Amino acid sequence: MKISAPNNKIPNNKIPAQTCGQPAFQGLLYVDTKTQMPLDSWFFRDSETLKAAISEIKTTFPAGAEIWDFACSNGEETISIKSLLDSPQYKVIGYDSSISALQLAKKGIYTVFSNWYDSFLLPNTKTTGDENFFKSKFYEVMEEVFPPEKDCRINNKTDYFNIKKFYLDFQEKYFSVNPKIRKAIDIRKGDITLIDNYRNQDKVGAIFFRNALYQMTGNDLNETIEQRKFFASRPVDNKKEIIEELVNKIHSKLELGGIFVLGDHIKDHLFLADRNLPDSEVILLKNTPFFNIWNKKHVCASGLRLFKESPVKTALEKYGRFIPVGFSKTELDIAMPKIKVPTVWKKVR
Ligand SMILES: C[S@@+](CC[C@H](N)C(=O)[O-])C[C@H]1O[C@@H](n2cnc3c(N)ncnc32)[C@H](O)[C@@H]1O
Repeated sequence: MKISAPNNKIPNNKIPAQTCGQPAFQGLLYVDTKTQMPLDSWFFRDSETLKAAISEIKTTFPAGAEIWDFACSNGEETISIKSLLDSPQYKVIGYDSSISALQLAKKGIYTVFSNWYDSFLLPNTKTTGDENFFKSKFYEVMEEVFPPEKDCRINNKTDYFNIKKFYLDFQEKYFSVNPKIRKAIDIRKGDITLIDNYRNQDKVGAIFFRNALYQMTGNDLNETIEQRKFFASRPVDNKKEIIEELVNKIHSKLELGGIFVLGDHIKDHLFLADRNLPDSEVILLKNTPFFNIWNKKHVCASGLRLFKESPVKTALEKYGRFIPVGFSKTELDIAMPKIKVPTVWKKVR
């Protein structure tokens, strides 16, 4: 197993005239410039779900399968999946509907920096257990690069600068997919609502759509004002139908035994009730975190009207088509206890 040596000196021929850094640092488009939708992603996000999904895929399709990673953003998720499904028999295709995300994917430069979800990937960071494993997989497919300033992008401008300000020993590194396997990372423009139009003849072994359902259903539990404006123009009162239609399409696209993978974000599991939903299907939640437009902070609001049961769960379990085989933990607010949510669903009929 090849792991890049941490403190390697940069070979002279790799040192660019000017490397990335402030003040000319170009922070990433944290939201899609056109839709204002968040593009946040990081390597090996929600490792519990990833582990369960990869194990299912390997067990059910030992001879290989096609994996479709919808809502892949700039590709960190697709690269993570590909690194864990390291045999060429597994073809992983990343799809995203956002032009901003795809531009970043095309550039193919990724950052890892201190005190972030994936900072365990920094060469000098000590790791144990799963992180050890993920880190070794990461360095099998990625190599450190030293891009010119104009090519530096990161995932979250505000957080990045806040972190950088606070940590004296702040570190950041840039990575690209190793040229040897670059061809195996396939990222395309694609909208999951049109999934039945994509290569109609094929069935796939797994469909990922993590932390994105809220965008297509307008499930704005706690979005920013700008995003709320955007959601307001959407048909948010037919989430049940939108989700049922999506699940039907996913069901017909998957092989028997194939999996549908959701995110661990609460907005993939807890849905604002459609206005026409009968009271018997609604639950009122007290002390729900809400985005306060006056002080621009998430605060507690009460009386949020929610689907009693997640419409995704209802749609997946309809006719006994899917069963949950992988779980993760999530919370509505960091002050609240975590709850277990089903994130990996297997097609059983
Ligand atoms: C918050 S990011 C999540 C990225 C990644 N899945 C993760 O969990 O780290 C949501 C992504 O979903 C994409 N997206 C939203 N609706 C989509 C759709 N209908 N089809 C494909 N991608 C979509 C957005 O462009 C964005 O890149």
